[in-house]
Amino acid sequence: MMGCQEWPEPIIRVQALAESGINSIPERFIKPQSQRPKTESNNCVPQKQGFEDVNDVENINNINIPVIDLQDLYGEDKNLKEETMKRVSEACREWGFFQVLNHGVNHDLMKSAREVWREFFHQPIEVKEKYANSPITYEGYGSRLGIKKGAILDWSDYFFLHYMPSSLRDQEKWPALPNSLRGVIDEYGEEVVKLGGRILELMSKNLGLKEDFLMKSFGGESDIGACLRVNFYPKCPQPDLTLGLSSHSDPGGMTILLPDENVSGLQVRRGEHWITVKPVPNAFIINIGDQIQVLSNAIYKSIEHRVIVNSNKDRVSLAFFYNPRSDLLIQPAKELVTQDRPPLYPPMTFDEYRLYIRTKGPCGKSQVESLTSHK
Ligand code: OGA
Ligand code: NI
Repeated sequence: MMGCQEWPEPIIRVQALAESGINSIPERFIKPQSQRPKTESNNCVPQKQGFEDVNDVENINNINIPVIDLQDLYGEDKNLKEETMKRVSEACREWGFFQVLNHGVNHDLMKSAREVWREFFHQPIEVKEKYANSPITYEGYGSRLGIKKGAILDWSDYFFLHYMPSSLRDQEKWPALPNSLRGVIDEYGEEVVKLGGRILELMSKNLGLKEDFLMKSFGGESDIGACLRVNFYPKCPQPDLTLGLSSHSDPGGMTILLPDENVSGLQVRRGEHWITVKPVPNAFIINIGDQIQVLSNAIYKSIEHRVIVNSNKDRVSLAFFYNPRSDLLIQPAKELVTQDRPPLYPPMTFDEYRLYIRTKGPCGKSQVESLTSHK
């Protein structure tokens, strides 16, 4: 499939479709029953005595992923510092998903980044089509992930660009309009990359490794891979039948997500339930990707997540992927391999690894799980 140059069928721009005033969605977007979001109207399970399931689902709606204030990490108080490290450790081990506050990225910059992309998507279609992408590199304006002919599609469009290494950063491929976009994204990228480095350090320490272990495994500060996927989820006339983004784990190292401030939609899998993340103002959502699962020999796990859509509000999110340099072999850290815990994954480069999702599209955790060697 590496030789595939183009999409298998004409691209449907979801935003244009949504704005055309349809009141039912095309069949191509209708998910099988088992994948549809659990909503009141989809809940067609016959009612039984003892409403345990119903209660579980309700409880799940009341919990959120951990929210961690990073403020104390850089202060004087040793106890508070340790306490924060412990909270990060627990969040990584038990959740794989958490929100961070006092992360060091300027709040106005976060707002500008989100707004400038919202403006980008609200430009006329011709402006966006100039950046139409192909499945060779995925860079640019796109509307699907995966090249399987006849695949069921997700209810979203996106823009994908490379930020690092600098050899792949080509501002000519970034939108020229709105005028401020390139500058804002340059600055935003710089700050978010710094945050990513700090979090890698916390994770290395918490895993009992040298503090620069993960950074070195990723190729070092100037060689890491970093890319931005800006997701645009248009309003949907039948949100119960589709998903904005199908269930997947992120293939890279770690994701630093800036969610929409007004509309929720991200759901994280917890056992048999989906938890709807409630974004905290000015926080980033951090999640572990498959490469950190491999490096940590599954002490940290990537977590399945998906996005639901709604009938009255568009949603914008900025997913910043902090990845290893793509040609390095990634494998479980020697320090985390023992007789009782043999290496669970074979060495593989990220370039090779990400071909799977780029070909098949999002499919839960099937890739990383298929790699586990059964020894
Ligand atoms: C992603 C992703 C979540 C969101 O882009 O990989 O999971 O809330 N996005 O848009
Ligand atoms: Ni994701």
